[in-house]
Amino acid sequence: MSHSQSPSSSEATELVRFSVPFEYPVHFTAGVFAPENTLLREVLTRLEPERRHRIHVVIDAGLAAARPTLSREVAEYFRVHQAALELVATPLLIPGGESAKNDPALIQSLLQAFADTRLDRHAFCLIVGGGAVLDAVGFAAATAHRGIRVVRVPTTVLGQNDAGIGVKNGVNAFGAKNFIGCFAPPFAVLNDHEWLQTLPRRDRIAGMAEAVKVALIRDRDFFEWLWANRAALAAFESEATRYMIRRAAALHLRQISSGGDPFESGSARPLDFGHWSAHKLERLTEHALRHGEAVAIGMALDTRYSFEQGLIGEADLERVTSLLTELGFELFHSVLGAQDAEGQLLLLRGLDEFREHLGGDLSIPLLDGIGRSVDVSEFSAATVERCISWLGSRYAESNSG
Ligand SMILES: NC(=O)c1ccc[n+]([C@@H]2O[C@H](COP(=O)([O-])OP(=O)(O)OC[C@H]3O[C@@H](n4cnc5c(N)ncnc54)[C@H](O)[C@@H]3O)[C@@H](O)[C@H]2O)c1
Ligand SMILES: [Zn+2]
Repeated sequence: MSHSQSPSSSEATELVRFSVPFEYPVHFTAGVFAPENTLLREVLTRLEPERRHRIHVVIDAGLAAARPTLSREVAEYFRVHQAALELVATPLLIPGGESAKNDPALIQSLLQAFADTRLDRHAFCLIVGGGAVLDAVGFAAATAHRGIRVVRVPTTVLGQNDAGIGVKNGVNAFGAKNFIGCFAPPFAVLNDHEWLQTLPRRDRIAGMAEAVKVALIRDRDFFEWLWANRAALAAFESEATRYMIRRAAALHLRQISSGGDPFESGSARPLDFGHWSAHKLERLTEHALRHGEAVAIGMALDTRYSFEQGLIGEADLERVTSLLTELGFELFHSVLGAQDAEGQLLLLRGLDEFREHLGGDLSIPLLDGIGRSVDVSEFSAATVERCISWLGSRYAESNSG
């Protein structure tokens, strides 16, 4: 602590400076609630193995509908391990998908449930579900008693390779994505690939967008791997899918632990390639587009933009867009061309909103070759319009023949 005070002055400053170490494991496993799988018990008891731990389980109702035995499996797991673990209430089911992040009453009811079961700061909220449920319940848990322990069990591709493994929580409000939220690292994450078996095709595809994203801006070898394995990935072959998730998760985690700005204090959000327009597209379509689907369109747009800026060549542009198309993404949506009364593209407001969300100056990642990104602070409306036209004609061509 530094200290400055002159003897004659009544003014003084104490500089407070400290850092808080964070650490959490991200496990890759299978059969997380199989009674003989002790990983979950070990995870929950790792800090105080001698104590009995209290756990409140919250489950994505979309997942529960696809796997009707789930609540029973959870109850059975806690019965078998009751010497170490106490399930404080019947698992709570909440609506899955973006509606979990669009309903303020849900946060209130979660907090009420935590209060009713008298969860304290050493008790656990175990969240099982997709990225939206993890974001919303994680936010509620981070604010109850200023933070109860959260263990996440992500059950979607996107949850396992991005949304469920990081430090961000939040819900949508006032017309903006993730307007209310916080940075709160989880206690642990358990990625179980068996969940993905019930995931609808649409969500399987959508989740791959974040893997393509992180390859494009961080890891050329991974991009080459995605390209070489695109048919296996599109067919959702188990081994390829698991590798894709592992590697994308590792790249996201490396950014958090070694990128120098885990709580995003700076203006840059280096992993948000394709996201300025994706967030806007999600809102403009009232979430008819999944996050991953919007990110795929946003990446196609910004890849073309990178090409127009001379940052990548035509062969790479073709490969990126072909990869996304072959994985199953549609790289156009009619709302891309929607205008306000003055003839301004509505999408372009996404640039201002992106800057406002981050604070500071506009900073948008573009591709600088495959596997590298460069942040730019200026974005040309005319170029964005040209990129949209290009996406439109490409889409029309592919649908006409
Ligand atoms: N916190 C972060 O760092 C971060 C990062 C990226 C994305 N996100 C957020 O994640 C959200 C998207 O998450 P998502 O792609 O996981 O989709 P999602 O959470 O919207 O889930 C999609 C659908 O799948 C259902 N579902 C979940 N698991 C299932 C399973 N195993 N079987 C059958 N159905 C299942 C859900 O009920 C829902 O209907 C967005 O809100 C996005 O903003 C957050
Ligand atoms: Zn994303």
